[in-house]
Amino acid sequence: MLRDVYSNTVFNQHPRSFSCIPSTASLLSWLGDVMTNAYNPHASCQINAPAADLIEKKLIRFLCDLAGYPKESGGLFVSGGSIANLTALTAARDTKLTYNERGRAVIYVSDQTHASVTKGLLIIGFCKDQIRTIPTDNSFCMDISALRAAIKNDMESGKNPFAVIASAGTTNTGSVDPLTEISATCREHDMWLHVDGAFGASVLLSEKYRKNLSGIELSDSLSLDAHKWLLQTYGCSVVLVRNQETVGS
Ligand SMILES: Cc1ncc(COP(=O)(O)O)c(C=O)c1O
Repeated sequence: MLRDVYSNTVFNQHPRSFSCIPSTASLLSWLGDVMTNAYNPHASCQINAPAADLIEKKLIRFLCDLAGYPKESGGLFVSGGSIANLTALTAARDTKLTYNERGRAVIYVSDQTHASVTKGLLIIGFCKDQIRTIPTDNSFCMDISALRAAIKNDMESGKNPFAVIASAGTTNTGSVDPLTEISATCREHDMWLHVDGAFGASVLLSEKYRKNLSGIELSDSLSLDAHKWLLQTYGCSVVLVRNQETVGS
């Protein structure tokens, strides 16, 4: 492994590897991973692992509070941002659409949205022609006028706009979409707002910079990767939802 694999891998683990989205892992996180693998707890439910279950619930509650979500909110730990997005998209589909409405449904992403969103939409049964790519402005943020125009156009042609995927920290530049305005548009048309914060939502922990994510509390779901800026080992990601029942209990 040392000769052939680790020596031929980008060394994100170097303590001075500050450059990129995948971060170096903290020593504590590494130790946690070692212990998890050694003890291999079966933490599937409260009966099997009540202490682990409690820790998970407390941590999800802490993150929901941090996001500004209401008390009915909840979430799940998952293996990465891609699965977090897929989980949220499934919750959006099953909350907003009946089975028969799926064929007319339309989803809006921007030209900066991470590829996992489109992949997730295809995996859960949507077709490419149901996904609209909204242009971004000079700061790589979703152009809200273009979004509104696209929704109007789709409604006039008998389609069913049901979800917008906004980004809190795009992969290319870290840009944040205008979350408050997008949320207002979603509410106007009874659409689901998912925020892909896999990269940037960890900024919620910064008192100084959390204002850059204002409006995130208005979303219906949110992805956050702890294995990016929170220095956790792979894979440690979380999907939060405004209403816990939309992802099961
Ligand atoms: C904005 C964004 N969303 C989703 C992902 C996918 O995350 P993961 O690699 O944990 O599946 C990334 C990864 O860089 C990302 O930057």
